[in-house]
Amino acid sequence: MKFFIGISGYFHDSSIALIDSLGNLVDFKKEEYFSRIKGDKSFPRLALQEMIKNFNLSENNIEKVCFYEKPLKAWLKILNYSIKNNSLVNELTRNYFKNIWKSSIIFSYDLSKYLKISNEKILYCDHHLSHTLTGVFYNSEVPITSIIVDGFGDDSTTSIHHIKSLKEINNVWSSPFPHSIGLFYSAITDYLGFSVNEGEYKVMGLAAYGEPTYYDSLSKTIFFKDGKLFLDDTYYDFVRSIKKSYSDKLKEIFNVKERESNIPLDLDRPNFKEYANIASSAQKVVENILKEIFIYANKITGENRFIFSGGVAMNSVAINQISKLNFIKEIIIPPSPGDSGAAIGAAYYSFLQTGSNNLEESSKSKIENILTPGFIKNKISDEDFFLINYEKIANKDDLIDTAAEIIAKNEVIATCYENIETGPRALGHRSMICNAHSISAVKHLNQNIKKRSKFRPVAPVILKQNAKKYFLISDKIYQSYFYMGAVAEVVVSKNIEPIVHNDNTARVQLCDENHILGKILKKLETYNIDVLANTSFNISSDPIVYTLEDAYLAIERMNIRYLMTENGIYKKKTNE
Ligand SMILES: [Fe+2]
Repeated sequence: MKFFIGISGYFHDSSIALIDSLGNLVDFKKEEYFSRIKGDKSFPRLALQEMIKNFNLSENNIEKVCFYEKPLKAWLKILNYSIKNNSLVNELTRNYFKNIWKSSIIFSYDLSKYLKISNEKILYCDHHLSHTLTGVFYNSEVPITSIIVDGFGDDSTTSIHHIKSLKEINNVWSSPFPHSIGLFYSAITDYLGFSVNEGEYKVMGLAAYGEPTYYDSLSKTIFFKDGKLFLDDTYYDFVRSIKKSYSDKLKEIFNVKERESNIPLDLDRPNFKEYANIASSAQKVVENILKEIFIYANKITGENRFIFSGGVAMNSVAINQISKLNFIKEIIIPPSPGDSGAAIGAAYYSFLQTGSNNLEESSKSKIENILTPGFIKNKISDEDFFLINYEKIANKDDLIDTAAEIIAKNEVIATCYENIETGPRALGHRSMICNAHSISAVKHLNQNIKKRSKFRPVAPVILKQNAKKYFLISDKIYQSYFYMGAVAEVVVSKNIEPIVHNDNTARVQLCDENHILGKILKKLETYNIDVLANTSFNISSDPIVYTLEDAYLAIERMNIRYLMTENGIYKKKTNE
């Protein structure tokens, strides 16, 4: 078997995807799984070494290695912009030179340290084409139009590709740096005191508590008009500073100063409402610009089916809003729309260049790969160390029955079940779950165990056949609900109040009865429970747990009583 490797790195959480010569995604690993550094963006050496070991990868069986952008292009674009627009002593310009040896320019050198491979086997795929092909990988029904919206990649921040066939993909529109929706949202994230590239989810959650009182002023700083995306960089310092993303001019718009990141933010804290108003306004700006871009893309390509990917496609609230546009028939959002998922598109690019003769057939929907491609090498004996502090209360055969019994008692179970999910959401394999009908169980999970702010929602999980009982499910974005890609309006909130967000939506996860959570939900019907609450299994500053060892450390530190693996359920021993 021959393999195609896709690599992403240096900007956001780095990762590696492995596609075989039949076009199957056979493995996907993020560097943070191994380094335990959340959002690790360094060259994914540990992930690569693991993959080389597991698949005996070498020059002999590697067909191509593809990096998810063209390094020099991106570097030169920003450097040229900075030289032209900033003074020669500007810190951003100088920083660009200083950090060149930490940037993607040294990709092939970094790769050569861990994998000896001839130069002609190394490819580079345009960044937004990598994002596009990640979407195509999961749904190759053509023709379709791809809309990519992120911070910045190669020479564009937003792009439209018209995919007439897998052999004819045309970039029909793009927006250059610094006119960027992703960088705008990150600047607001920065103003609100959250970490850029990590806190954008928090801004989205916070938006539900505010009113868009700053919409008019903010929408003058970034807008889409006459086929052009425009950002007024006098409001945004990311074009001239390495320390802050917004300028003093932006501050003048708001009634409240930027939030200090070390001061907690929650419903009962000072200025909460003002910060929520800023988040709500920014969210509305993004939603409206995205709608206009979809309308424009429909106008220039004539398509009504879309792929939507790039970091901004993680905005599950915006996706729900966009899907309401009448002309849209379907939106495909890949399970990992951000840069780490773009490694899949890069691997697929090299596959399409040299791979199968039967592209249409080999790239049919890989929906079965969505959750957990690849494998993790855990052995049952690895679980022995659980027995120091935990007793095994269920084996493989009675795992589902026991899990349902525990949940029905309103207890929380952590899961480290088979392999980890590809995307940013834990969907049951690395989750903490409880009965979503119980206010006390969800509160205990969210506030005592996970220690999250009250304004952050917990996601519901429901069997797909029961979903319409509670949620307004749109057929246009149906696939994305299986990996929490979009929120849905709640139609009946009675009995599921703990998972309903302040704007009457929920980031619902659908599953079928083959999925581990689906099996548990089916059993829970006998207890009159048809919704689970689900949050990722990690301490907030850590990546999601990966190995059993990570799981053990996390349950001990978080004081969790139950852990479920594919081999059984463990219960913490009591001291008496
Ligand atoms: Fe990107």
